[in-house]
Amino acid sequence: MTSTEARQRIDALSKELEDHNYSYYVLSNPTISDYEFDMMLKELEKLEEEFPELAHVNSPTKRVGGDITKKFAEVVHDYPMMSLSNTYSKEEIEDFESRVRKLADGELEYVCELKYDGVAIGIKYVNGELVRAATRGDGVKGEDISTNVKTIRTIPMYVRGEGYPEEFEIRGEIFFPLKHFNALNAQRETEGEALFANPRNTASGTLKMQDSSVVASRNLDCYLYGVYSPQRVADNHFNSVQNAGSWGFKIPKREDNMIRLCKSIDEIMEFINYWEEKRHTLDFEIDGVVIKVNNYLQQEELGYTAKSPRWAIAYKYKAAEVTTRLENITYQVGRTGAITPVANLKPVLLAGTTVKRASLHNADQIAKLDLREGDEVYVEKGGEIIPKVTAVDLDKRPADSQPFVYATHCPECNTELIRLEGEALHYCPNENGCPPQIKGKMEHFISRKAMDIEGLGSETIEQLHEAGLIRTPADIYDLTADQLLPLERMAEKSVENMLKGIEDSKQVPFERVLFALGIRYVGETVAKKLVRALHTIEALMAADQEALVALDEIGDRIAQSVLEYFSVETNREMVLKLKEAGLQFEIPAEQLEGQTQKLAGQSFVISGVFTNHSRDELKQLIEQNGGKNTGSISAKTNFLLAGENMGPSKRQKAEKLGVEIISESRFEEMIA
Ligand code: IVH
Repeated sequence: MTSTEARQRIDALSKELEDHNYSYYVLSNPTISDYEFDMMLKELEKLEEEFPELAHVNSPTKRVGGDITKKFAEVVHDYPMMSLSNTYSKEEIEDFESRVRKLADGELEYVCELKYDGVAIGIKYVNGELVRAATRGDGVKGEDISTNVKTIRTIPMYVRGEGYPEEFEIRGEIFFPLKHFNALNAQRETEGEALFANPRNTASGTLKMQDSSVVASRNLDCYLYGVYSPQRVADNHFNSVQNAGSWGFKIPKREDNMIRLCKSIDEIMEFINYWEEKRHTLDFEIDGVVIKVNNYLQQEELGYTAKSPRWAIAYKYKAAEVTTRLENITYQVGRTGAITPVANLKPVLLAGTTVKRASLHNADQIAKLDLREGDEVYVEKGGEIIPKVTAVDLDKRPADSQPFVYATHCPECNTELIRLEGEALHYCPNENGCPPQIKGKMEHFISRKAMDIEGLGSETIEQLHEAGLIRTPADIYDLTADQLLPLERMAEKSVENMLKGIEDSKQVPFERVLFALGIRYVGETVAKKLVRALHTIEALMAADQEALVALDEIGDRIAQSVLEYFSVETNREMVLKLKEAGLQFEIPAEQLEGQTQKLAGQSFVISGVFTNHSRDELKQLIEQNGGKNTGSISAKTNFLLAGENMGPSKRQKAEKLGVEIISESRFEEMIA
């Protein structure tokens, strides 16, 4: 393919992918299958690797992330990012209305919008193209987080439609959709990681991460609420927002009552009351409503105070909150031994559901709030499923109240708890003797993403454990029909099914078996990485800290956890027993042919045309020798494998980042 042909194809693919992206994420109306989309994206990735000089900074390939930002550059805002003054009552809205009427001429109209509870963002477009996305910072200066913002698929890289100014800035709020936030926490729970406290702080933390591929994986979203440009293209705010919708931005829908034009206080109050009641039906958190004077000339007339516009005001909802008695604090022991304190509350109605329990996260949280059993406490419900205890009503504290003393021993097996340095959670170290850990581990072992044993569910695990038939996952493979048939609810057919399910699970690939062992921090992805790098359980068990952290994306914490797991004799014995039972503990030979670890921990970018190998062959050679292929150069890249006709921009970038540039023959020496 010539460079001109490649450019044409890259342009066509980029346009088509962005169109589909818009249909899928902004309009929620997909027009092609995910598979077709992925195929097009792969083709584009391949072309960009082959013709790196043609790869665009705003390519749809940037949506999946991968670029690393070591330090976010400072940005001076073109228009200061101000805040809004807050109100909490109808009277204060009336005061606002009469102030506005005094200062502005003519008939007044207001736009009511939701006050999204997320992170403010200013995104600048020049000639229809995203050039910079910055955080609010102190309002005058923020940080350039463009790389991370480009992974948010509802934010266009290129403006659609027409009539947009040559240069403009879009302001909006990035938030963590609750569906994705709760899924992330559920996943962290299964992997024994501390949970994130709330969607807003997690969105904010996510946007400051160095690795944009993690940001991409979090599925953040954005609603826009303002357009700033030197030349106005609309007379009022409402039309401006509609324009922005036609340019491809995600805007609140009028038909869902997410934005409303109001002429009177009564209409404004209707909007406020509607969302006060309905806000828990949204898939994101709001903390109030924003009321803005619609007409731009009137906005100008009203002007600004030092901190906020006089033409807008926020009506803040109080969080759905009640007080109730904290009866006592108990503990839950997870499968990895993590201890979670739980507040048992006098049942109370909150935002439509009866609340009896709330998570207290960890010992520090209890100490910070000085929670004591018997206290009257404030319970709040945000977007998360689990309500939280936010404060104590000290006036109601009983005279004989005693400070709460956190457990020193496991509430289930009485083993002394440990707390690792820098970790928020206490753990029960009695992995193989603590009942909820034993059951939890077995439930994890048989779960869908692990061994996926058909005919065997959590209830049966519980029953078999109680009948003394299984104590570790390895015991599952010793079960016989004679042992099972006498048990309650066990018919011949179900026993047959279960035994077949157990037998079939012996074919489950090694990476899933490793995940099934339930080693703390070894989730699905980490298990895959370990298996691909080390190939056999023996190699994994023999690896020391140094060898483990040398592997791609394995840090100290994971390495430590793997070492600890295999340092326990009973764990080693169980693995041996599972191996003898016939489970897969290595990659099959055919997958391993020609495999070495000569390039372990090294990442490569291939660019240009080569004499002895095609680019695909080189990629395969890198992987076969334990290395990693990446599409674009970042500070993490070790080598740029350069052929002929490599674009100058790639070379410059490699030189700037200190990435070693090697030739095909040097590469051949490396793997010889
Ligand atoms: S308009 C001059 N509209 O609330 C300020 N802000 O305290 C113009 N926010 O940091 C802001 N939803 O990030 C506006 N519909 C909305 C909003 C909104 C959330 C945030 C914004 C800002 C804070 C203002």
